[in-house]
Amino acid sequence: MPFKSQFFVFEGIDGSGKTTVSKKVSEILSTKSISNLWHREPTDSIHGQKIREFLQGKIKLTPDEQLKLFLLDREFSVNETILPTLKSDTCLVQDRYYFSTAAYQGRDEEHAADILYMNEDKGFPEPNRVYFLDLSPEEALERRNTRGGNKEAFDDEKEQTRIYQNYLAILPESTIFVDATADLEEVVNFCVEDILLSLSLKT
Ligand code: TYD
Repeated sequence: MPFKSQFFVFEGIDGSGKTTVSKKVSEILSTKSISNLWHREPTDSIHGQKIREFLQGKIKLTPDEQLKLFLLDREFSVNETILPTLKSDTCLVQDRYYFSTAAYQGRDEEHAADILYMNEDKGFPEPNRVYFLDLSPEEALERRNTRGGNKEAFDDEKEQTRIYQNYLAILPESTIFVDATADLEEVVNFCVEDILLSLSLKT
């Protein structure tokens, strides 16, 4: 059955489980013959590679330089992947989008809102649905400590609290808040069901 391609975005603070959840959602959609692509930002563009070096602490970037690079990477993401995918009757399941830039690069709620408008002004396509995997900064930190791995930029509780508060201030009213403390399977199924509704494949 043909259906319009739609754009689904997963957001959340570090440790909220977005990457795992969004990948599983994409796999399940494929098993239901819903053509889709899982994609994430930052991308592998030259700007994205520089961003990853920064995230891993290999290079230093001022907040302005970070913002500039994330915007350049997003332009690449939109032109090279998002628009071509949506034009080809394929849904996009995306791990992070411009809400991340507003939440992470925003010094405070007001600055976060400015960054959001900056992205919208650039004409970047609006997602059909935004899923916010909601987990408190304290719980997310506990998860990251249990998971181990290298510390990345923004990896402290104060930073994550700023980011969480920015998210709450800028996420659109239509955002679907998902309780990220629930079982992985439960979280994934909840998002899949909602996507099926959005695609009018379920009533
Ligand atoms: P990544 O290794 O993909 O982590 P995660 O799986 O938690 O998403 O790194 C993404 C990091 O980049 C994460 O800390 C959030 C940050 N980020 C920004 O600061 N601004 C942005 O615009 C985006 C897309 C990500």
